[in-house]
Amino acid sequence: KILILDFGSQVAQLIARRVREAHVYCELHPYDMPLADIQAFNPKAIILSGGPNSVYESDYQADAGLLQLGVPVLGICYGMQWMAQVLGGKVEAGASREFGYAEIRARSHSQLFNGLQDRTNEAGDGLLDVWMSHGDKVTAMPAGFGLIAETASCPIAAMADEARKFYAVQFHPEVTHTKRGTDMLHRFVLGIAGAQPSWTMPNYIDEAVKKIREQVGSEEVILGLSGGVDSSVAAALIHRAIGDQLTCVFVDHGLLRLNEGDMVMEMFARGLGVKVIRVDASTEFMGFLEGVTDPEQKRKIIGREFVEVFQRESVKLPNAKWLAQGTIYPDVIESAGSKTKKAHTIKSHHNVGGLPETLNLKLLEPLRELFKDEVRELGVALGLPHDMVYRHPFPGPGLGVRILGEVKRDYAELLKRADAIFIEELRNTRDEHSGKTWYELTSQAFAVFLPVKSVGVMGDGRTYEWVVALRAVVTSDFMTAHWAELPYSLLGRVSNRIINEVRGINRVVYDVSGKPPATIEWE
Ligand code: XMP
Repeated sequence: KILILDFGSQVAQLIARRVREAHVYCELHPYDMPLADIQAFNPKAIILSGGPNSVYESDYQADAGLLQLGVPVLGICYGMQWMAQVLGGKVEAGASREFGYAEIRARSHSQLFNGLQDRTNEAGDGLLDVWMSHGDKVTAMPAGFGLIAETASCPIAAMADEARKFYAVQFHPEVTHTKRGTDMLHRFVLGIAGAQPSWTMPNYIDEAVKKIREQVGSEEVILGLSGGVDSSVAAALIHRAIGDQLTCVFVDHGLLRLNEGDMVMEMFARGLGVKVIRVDASTEFMGFLEGVTDPEQKRKIIGREFVEVFQRESVKLPNAKWLAQGTIYPDVIESAGSKTKKAHTIKSHHNVGGLPETLNLKLLEPLRELFKDEVRELGVALGLPHDMVYRHPFPGPGLGVRILGEVKRDYAELLKRADAIFIEELRNTRDEHSGKTWYELTSQAFAVFLPVKSVGVMGDGRTYEWVVALRAVVTSDFMTAHWAELPYSLLGRVSNRIINEVRGINRVVYDVSGKPPATIEWE
């Protein structure tokens, strides 16, 4: 396994994902991980991430002892500068920041780049397109290091001490803009460090099943099934391991997508034979939401009630000793968060996973080590339907934040049907260039109910009915997003169908706001 130390990089998670793509297990830890812990982790190699600071004036210092462990080390950006400084080289502020594409000239003798190139120059040197983002740079290499790549503005763009297997690059191989970046990381991990590519889904399932059985023994487990990807995959995996010792509680708050409840039951109870208790709590939820218009308050009520209902159900299962949750690796990294990352709360997120300690149950989190795409792969391997596993994300408070202002049952009914039509058309319409469906080409798409009436005309009569907004975005991280450029013909069909098929709606609009300044959800 590979250890990645995070110096506060925005893209450290990408390094981990690239390594996992080579089927090598890795973990991301804060830069100040104690040396003893590093030794206990027993890494096959260490990768040092970039970071926003200057190495000569910051306290972002890893334990230099990691360079004495005899394992290969790859430093990226700040990681390179840290290595240079600690090993006796020199780091200085550049005249200006360098940000964006750069073309490096690679020295072919280096194991890291040998044979990798986007093109060659007249002299036959390999040229590589890379992504740079730095202010400081290494101006003198430590003893033992040789130059392995250069650019016009960054004469020491990469260096290596091949004897000690120390490599350092000023650019970012983990981002896709560095075209051969994944190859470089794989070469480091598999070639230079000699890690075995044994991190595969079938292996993972075997190990995870074994581990769950060992952990749980003959005790019983409960899991809050939300219909979302993470809790669904967790349920399928745990069921594979312990069968009927698992009971899922599916709380239907009445704010799910059309027919969602039936689909969940169909898939789990009938399809996989999982024990699922379905609780229809919609009346209760609607009651608590009556008269409430503030988005944050709605979120809090839905979150609180969810826990309440779940708790009530769980006391009916006195034998349960474990609470299973679909926590995934990005959640783990986020909450372990290095000091450099300050998340700013724009909306208080409620996740159905966030259940209280008062239940007095031990936590079972079998997806803690997996990235989202690995969770999906696992879901498919466990037999969950492809469409389910590759669904767009759906917020915990559900339609509660897609019905603006006060939530009412009849608004929810209209919205569910409008939303289902939109999604159906997205799934059924292909983009001619890519051949993909518009559902695949968008990251998240849904309808929003606006409690506003507008005038229309239908047949000979005047109508005065509600408005629905369509939202579709393209994003890789949900932190920023572009509105999707859906074809007019598709928008037109969706609008016609909603207005014709959903009585009570006579106007459909399309949201063309990016994030920022808008958010993806309307509340
Ligand atoms: P925003 O609206 O903040 O959404 O741009 C970013 C992503 O987060 C989802 N989202 C939520 N997910 N509980 C959740 O589990 C919530 O309260 C919540 N609010 C927003 C949103 O759907 C989008 O994918």
